[in-house]
Amino acid sequence: DPVVDLAAPTMGFMSWERFRCTIDCNDDPTHCISEQLYQSMADALVLHGYAAAGYTQVSIDDCWTDHQRFQGRLQADPTRFPHGIAALADYLHAAGLTLGIYGDAGIQTCGHYPGSQGYEDIDARTFAEWGVDYIKLDGCHIDDDATTTSSHEQGNKYRQRYVAFGAAMAKVSHIRNMTFSCSWPAYIGDNETDKPFDVMYHQAGCNTWRNFKDIDNHWESLSEIILHWADYWHELQNIPTGSFNDADMLIVGDDHYGTMLPRPQAQLQMGFWAMIASPLLIGGDVRTIPEEYRKILVNQHIIAVNQDVSRKQAYCVVGCKGTTNTDDDAFEELRTTSALKQVWSKTLQGGHSQALGFFNLQEDDDATIQYIYQLEGVVAQCVDLWSDDPNKDLCAQGKGATTQQWDIHLLTKDDNHYSLQIQALEMEPTSHRML
Ligand code: GLA
Ligand code: GLA
Repeated sequence: DPVVDLAAPTMGFMSWERFRCTIDCNDDPTHCISEQLYQSMADALVLHGYAAAGYTQVSIDDCWTDHQRFQGRLQADPTRFPHGIAALADYLHAAGLTLGIYGDAGIQTCGHYPGSQGYEDIDARTFAEWGVDYIKLDGCHIDDDATTTSSHEQGNKYRQRYVAFGAAMAKVSHIRNMTFSCSWPAYIGDNETDKPFDVMYHQAGCNTWRNFKDIDNHWESLSEIILHWADYWHELQNIPTGSFNDADMLIVGDDHYGTMLPRPQAQLQMGFWAMIASPLLIGGDVRTIPEEYRKILVNQHIIAVNQDVSRKQAYCVVGCKGTTNTDDDAFEELRTTSALKQVWSKTLQGGHSQALGFFNLQEDDDATIQYIYQLEGVVAQCVDLWSDDPNKDLCAQGKGATTQQWDIHLLTKDDNHYSLQIQALEMEPTSHRML
């Protein structure tokens, strides 16, 4: 089992999406992978209220090391990190933040820097001694003889490498307890049905893992990830309590390639990541995210859905693979593909309330979802978590009614309106119907 019992999905900043492997600090001093970049992100997290909202981790990604080990140890690039990683960890800890670092279970990282294969013990010890709090262990270049092995051996090689690193982390847990993020499932195909999540948690000690493709700063990438979750929502819930699937970084407010997602799409990502309890790792430049996007990222009601004590993911209620569109017809076939209109439901606060997420992924069409909620008990309150007035009651049939029926107009992803509303209800629903 993991050495850390993770109370909630990790929140913070991670450098890969916006900054990639920018290593020329002469050419681009404010965007290159350097101690200065991470210090300025830490300052910005605190200054702009992200840290107060829960975003307390600064995560280094690929391309931070020298190309050579020194006396067997990984070392940070000496020109870009002149004070070294331990000093950076001290800087973050003094600000009340934590440090995430990046490594790879194979012989090289994805960006061809040294990997930890065969160096698990020394690398886990080095990270612990430096004061690292979280390790993202990527899965590129394991063995590097992939084509010659059978699929069974292929599967085993990830198990061996991640279990070896997890064991190394356990050995140094007297020095430091570090959260373990394993990219293992992202390297063994798209079919979540076959992935050994129990082994990842119980044997390798992974707290969290990347399941699927890298996110990129555009709608096609975002919607592909959401549809993957809709296809496998059932399997993806079936993971040990305390572990979290990672749908990859948030592109909310990200200006990579010089464009930004329209706000409704940004809200859609934030709302979806909250519902599926994915880590909330800001992938944009925290120093310059515009205010209207900052507000999306720090929305306390949406964050509370993500960080809920249950540590559970939402159920897809309608519109996903394996669900129906309506449940009033017992004979309707289950969907074999996910639809572009979905409703998800998440039980919060030990069953005292429900969050409902309404998602419209359609490119061109508005969609009115007439949504009928049959409840066993009486509804105390219904609120739109994106509203500026979260106390405004939206119970369609009034408080105290046992049935709520909403006509929810989901605008297209590009419309300047909300694509997601979340309603908090007091009671468990007994049936759902989308017309
Ligand atoms: C892989 C990971 C990304 C990032 C890069 C770094 O693609 O999935 O998140 O860490 O490697 O090279
Ligand atoms: C399946 C099993 C796991 C593990 C993997 C190996 O998912 O359920 O226990 O053996 O295969 O890839």
